[in-house]
Amino acid sequence: MNRVVIHRGLNGVLFDNTRTTLIDGQFGKLLHCGYSIQELAEHSNFEEVTYLLIHKKLPTSAELEAFDNQLKEARSIPEQVVEVIRIVQNSHPMDVLRTAVSALSTFEAERENNTVEKTLSKGIRLIAQMPIIVATHHAIRTGRVPTQASKTLSHAANFLYMLHDKTPLEQEVKILDRDFVLHADHGSNASAFTARIATGTQADLHSAITAAIATFSGSLHGGAVEFVMKMLQEIDQPELAAQYIRKLQKENLPIFGFGHRVYRTEDPRAFHLREAAKYLSFERGETKWFRILEAIVDEMSSYIDRGVNVNVDFYNCVTYHLLGIPHDLFVPVFAISRISGWITQVLEQLENNILIRPVLNYVGESERPYIPIAVR
Ligand SMILES: CC(C)(COP(=O)(O)OP(=O)(O)OC[C@H]1O[C@@H](n2cnc3c(N)ncnc32)[C@H](O)[C@@H]1OP(=O)(O)O)[C@@H](O)C(=O)NCCC(=O)NCCS
Repeated sequence: MNRVVIHRGLNGVLFDNTRTTLIDGQFGKLLHCGYSIQELAEHSNFEEVTYLLIHKKLPTSAELEAFDNQLKEARSIPEQVVEVIRIVQNSHPMDVLRTAVSALSTFEAERENNTVEKTLSKGIRLIAQMPIIVATHHAIRTGRVPTQASKTLSHAANFLYMLHDKTPLEQEVKILDRDFVLHADHGSNASAFTARIATGTQADLHSAITAAIATFSGSLHGGAVEFVMKMLQEIDQPELAAQYIRKLQKENLPIFGFGHRVYRTEDPRAFHLREAAKYLSFERGETKWFRILEAIVDEMSSYIDRGVNVNVDFYNCVTYHLLGIPHDLFVPVFAISRISGWITQVLEQLENNILIRPVLNYVGESERPYIPIAVR
């Protein structure tokens, strides 16, 4: 008899090759096209990392300038999409983002053209439009006229400018830009895999990204960053963290911001995210949240010892909070940077496309005759 091996959750299953991102979960290493995430976080910026992910090489100055100009030129969304945002303004911002991205496809002249070249130009437009959707929605729901996008500020600076309707401080831009670099891509995570599945069927880019956003919103994936902040608010005082965590542990409930399908170490992105959260906490004189995070880490030591460690969402929420980003925008802000990874993976999938279609092991009833309803 054949022994059936089931890879639940596709854990550890290799389904294709990639030249984009290497993740070593045992040693806590993350490389994009051979460059370590630590070096990229320290020396690069979101625009350059996006170029790297897409083209698999660092750009020259001229290439980066041209790419940056393309992004800046694409900073607008059609008035009809603003109207759609207005209609759904009371929904969660992730739902609004998903709906607006889906609506944007209507205004793509060649929506169904799935060539690599056309998908890339649609993708670059989408990278530029995602922050505009999030900032426009926030303006509308708070009764303000949406701020016009700047055609000169960097990607991160323009988002903060549009979100708060004022020019951001240099330090704030630096922190958010680094955050965007750290989040730009992370291999075949659930949302990127979803984008690949949609692309595998020859669905267009906007369909793939709409599906990716939907997947990303779940609390075990991108949605976790909002839940970490909710947990901090419920704990409220560093001295109360231990008993709160012990209660969750006792009830076998997940502690958000901990654990990862791949990493058995601390998430390599956490180092810079911790530094940013710590810096802002002291700089803004609001250290309570950071101290609660530290108290949670202390209480999680037995989990850490068995490989359930801090993930990318743990420190991030405090940085977003201290940058004045409303809590329900945390996940959309994460998505603003992850769009680079989604576009990259769609392009990679397209280059050697194949339908992705795993199989399920049937464990139901064996074949039996149909029984008419009158005699059941
Ligand atoms: C991300 C996540 C879904 C990964 O799940 P996974 O791949 O099934 O996790 P693992 O296989 O490493 O889990 C090993 C064990 O640790 C437990 N565990 C993992 N993460 C945990 C967490 N955050 N809190 C409590 N227990 C956790 C699992 O329940 C499992 O327990 P078991 O052996 O008794 O069944 C999981 O870690 C989680 O739910 N984390 C919280 C949500 C979160 O922060 N998500 C963002 C991820 S970037």
